Amino acid sequence: MNASPARHSRITGTGSLLPAHRVTNADLAARLAADGIQTSDDWIMERTGIRARHFVAPGVQTSDIAVAAARHALEAAGRKSEDIDLVIVATSTPDMVFPSTACIVQRKLGIHGGAAFDVQAVCTGFVYALALADSMIRTGLATKALVIGAEIFSRILDFKDRTTCVLFGDGAGAVVLEASDTPGVLASELHADGRHVDILCVPGQVAAGQVTGDPFVRMDGQAVFKLAVGVLDSVSRAVLAKAGRSAESVHWMVPHQANIRIMHSAARRLGVPAERLVVTVDEHGNTSAASIPLALDTAVRAGRIKPGQSVLLQGVGGGFTWGAVLLDF
Ligand code: ACO
Repeated sequence: MNASPARHSRITGTGSLLPAHRVTNADLAARLAADGIQTSDDWIMERTGIRARHFVAPGVQTSDIAVAAARHALEAAGRKSEDIDLVIVATSTPDMVFPSTACIVQRKLGIHGGAAFDVQAVCTGFVYALALADSMIRTGLATKALVIGAEIFSRILDFKDRTTCVLFGDGAGAVVLEASDTPGVLASELHADGRHVDILCVPGQVAAGQVTGDPFVRMDGQAVFKLAVGVLDSVSRAVLAKAGRSAESVHWMVPHQANIRIMHSAARRLGVPAERLVVTVDEHGNTSAASIPLALDTAVRAGRIKPGQSVLLQGVGGGFTWGAVLLDF
């Protein structure tokens, strides 16, 4: 008896949504100055590589921008909502405590049936979600998945804390991942170390009818920086080894867009030339779980990432969590 061919998963379409309202470093500096807080375009550019970020309008929900990104991805894949049997949304800024933003997205897209759930791994969320969708497709639990990263971080920023509020933005990115006879996703690596919960967190909660604790992003920037550089290097080497590929074979590196210095350092350590690094942090800021799919879609639509090319996605963020997915696009 012949064994049935191995089942793989492959990205067939990408999409994204960047809110129209662009906030430059100068805009932000003026806003902070009104509260007597000093920052500058020079400081932000030099330390982070961020020139601008985008914020949603009041009333817009995470599911709204997730749906817009998903529609673009479906169109690119030549698929309709009803073809989808799995929706995963990676987000730390859900519409509600529950149900999941994925279920709200499912309703807004008119998808009935299949599974829908959120993944909470902060800035590594999209990498976790993609690895999970790949596993579910390969094991036959799903056939065509929408994998989305969507965030409205502007609502959890403390605009009196200049060490965090200059770093983040809002946005959404999505891919359609489908069962395939030929491999798209080649290998994944996921990790977490809960000993580092405190260095990057929003330590509030809803309890007894009100928000208790602190509902804003808090971060030890230097501790995050040091950890991020080390784990991005080790996880990238691990995923390449798992797939039997070399760093030289990587056409594009699409890292989490947190800080240009972290990204350049990760590429340099791995031996990937800077021109193969997809950079959108300058215009998007750090959009947490949305940053990788937003960067991926931007590079695909610009004609930089082409079918058949090898792409290394790298995530790192609160938890501490980190991971990588290596794929042939
Ligand atoms: N404008 C002007 N000055 C500032 C600002 C600001 N927005 N923020 C901090 N400063 C000041 C500090 O108060 C400090 O002043 P002092 O020397 O008088 O005390 C000085 O700048 C230097 O501060 P550092 O924290 O040492 O600056 P550093 O070079 O470490 O840069 C940064 C800070 C950009 C946050 C950096 O540590 C970093 O990028 N860390 C990684 C964190 C990150 O990327 N987080 C994103 C989320 S995590 C993730 O996605 C993985």
